[in-house]
Amino acid sequence: MTLVDLHCHILPGVDDGAKDLPMALGMARDAVAQGISHILLTPHHMDGEYTNHKIDVLRKTTAFQEALNAAKIPLTVFPGQEVHLTGELLTALDDDDILFMDEGGKYLLLELPHSGIPEYTEDMIFELQARGITPVIAHPERNHGFQKEPDRLYDFVEMGCLTQLTSSSYLGVFGDNVEKLTTKIIRSGMGFAFSSDAHNFKGRRFLMGDAFNKLEQQAGKDVATRFNDDARAILNGEEIVKPEFTRISVLKKKKRFWLF
Ligand SMILES: [Fe+2]
Repeated sequence: MTLVDLHCHILPGVDDGAKDLPMALGMARDAVAQGISHILLTPHHMDGEYTNHKIDVLRKTTAFQEALNAAKIPLTVFPGQEVHLTGELLTALDDDDILFMDEGGKYLLLELPHSGIPEYTEDMIFELQARGITPVIAHPERNHGFQKEPDRLYDFVEMGCLTQLTSSSYLGVFGDNVEKLTTKIIRSGMGFAFSSDAHNFKGRRFLMGDAFNKLEQQAGKDVATRFNDDARAILNGEEIVKPEFTRISVLKKKKRFWLF
C-alpha cells in the first residue's frame, strides 16, 4: 500500500524542519523510500516561535511541488499547518489564516503544548466543533499531560477528536515510555493515523514504512490498513468511522499475540 503522511516539516526554510531545498528534496527521497506517495505539509504555526501564514504556505507548496516534479520525485504535496493551541486560534480562523488537513476545512491538526494540557483546551475544542471542525490531536503520546494521565485522551476522543500518532514514537525514537504509550493508544482503539512529523535525516525521520510493518505484525493487517485509510479519509475530508475505543486504564495486560 502507498502511504499518506499528514504531518511533516519538509517544506524548506519555514521552521525547524528542512533548512533549504536540497535538504527538502533529500527528505522527499527518504519519504518515497518509506512508501509514502502523498504528504500534507504542516509547518509550525502560532507556536510562539514560528508563524506560517496560510497565503505563504499555499505559495510555497506550489513551488515545492514544482521542484519535486522537476527532480522527478513521485510525491504529491498539499498545503497544511501544524496549528498550535493558542487563545488566538479563533481570531486566526476568522481572519482566514488557518489551513486544514483537507481542502473543505473539516479536520484541523492541533498541537497542544508538550508540557501539558491547558485548562481551556476543552472549551477551545467545543468552539472548533461548533464551527464544524474536527480537531486531530497531533502526537498525544508525546504530551506530558497525556503521559501522566492517559485517560484524559479518552475524554477528548469521546468529545469527537481524532488523534495522529507519530511513526517514530511507535519505533522508540523518543524513548521507551513514549513507545509504550503509543502502543497503548493503538490497543485502546484511540489511534487513527500514523504520520512522520519528519524534520530531518537523523532522529526525526519518516520511518512510516517501518512503523506500518511493526503495526501489521503487532496488531494485524486490518488495523494497519485502517490507519492508512483514516489518513486518506482525513486528507479527503471524509467521515471517519471510529472503532470501539476504551480507556487506557482498563486495557488488559499483554495478550499473547501482542508481543512488545
Ligand atoms: Fe510537527
